[in-house]
Amino acid sequence: MLPVSKGERTLWMKFRRCLWYLVALIMVGTLVIYSSVFQVSWSLNPRTTTPNSSNPQNSVPPLVDRYTVAYPHEYHFILDEPNRCREESPFLVLMIPVEPHNREARHIIRSTWGNVTTVQGKVVSHYFILGQSREENGAQTIEEQLLRESRDHGDILQSDFLDSYHNLTIKTMLMFEWLSTHCPQTSYAMKVDTDTFLNVHNLVGMLLKAPQHLYITGTVIRFASVLRDQNSKWFVPFSTFPESVYPPYAIGLGYVFSLDLTRKILEAAQHVRALYIEDVYVGLCMRHLGIPLTDPPRGDMFRNWMPSDTGNCYWTSVITTLLHSSNQLLDVWKSYQTQAQSGC
Ligand SMILES: *[C@@H]1O[C@H](CO)[C@@H](O)[C@H](O)[C@H]1NC(C)=O
Ligand SMILES: *[C@@H]1O[C@H](CO)[C@@H](O)[C@H](O)[C@H]1NC(C)=O
Ligand SMILES: *[C@@H]1O[C@H](CO)[C@@H](O)[C@H](O)[C@H]1NC(C)=O
Repeated sequence: MLPVSKGERTLWMKFRRCLWYLVALIMVGTLVIYSSVFQVSWSLNPRTTTPNSSNPQNSVPPLVDRYTVAYPHEYHFILDEPNRCREESPFLVLMIPVEPHNREARHIIRSTWGNVTTVQGKVVSHYFILGQSREENGAQTIEEQLLRESRDHGDILQSDFLDSYHNLTIKTMLMFEWLSTHCPQTSYAMKVDTDTFLNVHNLVGMLLKAPQHLYITGTVIRFASVLRDQNSKWFVPFSTFPESVYPPYAIGLGYVFSLDLTRKILEAAQHVRALYIEDVYVGLCMRHLGIPLTDPPRGDMFRNWMPSDTGNCYWTSVITTLLHSSNQLLDVWKSYQTQAQSGC
């Protein structure tokens, strides 16, 4: 080290002291700004919310603006399978959100991956979950149709909320409610969209080696920006969610979870305002719980787009792939069966 004169040394000490004060000031400032933002706009703190809530235990009232939905709220199933899951005790339940009118998609799923009912001796079952139809004129016929489908297939769960894109978070939370009360012997469930290819064999294979508790996996997105462009499909204003990135969440087209997580997420939902983006909302509940999301054993198991080349044992190697439409599933399923039979 170079020798320094006394004058230089005191100057250096002064400088260091200044630097220290500056750092301390920045730290305190950040803390103050951060906590004030939290208190004002995204308060999960029971003391700053309306004291008069139906649930006396620290619940956040479901303040509904255009970017949140009416949840928690007591909805009722109008078409239900109250005993089936308990009686069948499936290892895995596939929960498929679908619009009431989309009979075609339900039909296609029943004849493809929805028709896989046992894998390696493990029972798999599926249910469609939907709300009520908005269509004023067609609503009557849609209800009759659903009643018939429910009788024929026993796989319809319809609740009394208005089924719309905006209300998907309600659908997801009702899915968790239904699973937690109807499937006491079930190990895992998956939320999977209709326009998705699902390889049930690979899914069960993965789950047989997966963690059994407080587990959720899928395509886990980290550091996704909150979209502030009003024209975006997933626009969320600062006033609803002031943070600039979302906590980790599993993409909604297909995520898998252990059944014990359902009760936990429902607990968390009492404290976290119900954002309309359903997969992000589940991520927010997970953060509230402090439970990390798990990446799948291989990064290419959950695919959010279809590669141009799906030969070469593609369908037998993945778990999910997002298709262009559910109609495409019929062809894809044939390719999958061909690949499976050719010893892929
Ligand atoms: C809470 O709400 C109930 C009715 O909803 C009312 O009777 C009661 O006075 C309210 N209590 C407070 C503290 O506002
Ligand atoms: C489901 O698979 C069975 C054979 O395992 C077949 O007989 C039945 O026709 C299939 N159902 C549908 C709706 O495709
Ligand atoms: C969402 O569902 C609730 C409950 O049925 C309904 O009041 C509301 O209008 C629905 N919102 C949209 C945007 O569909």
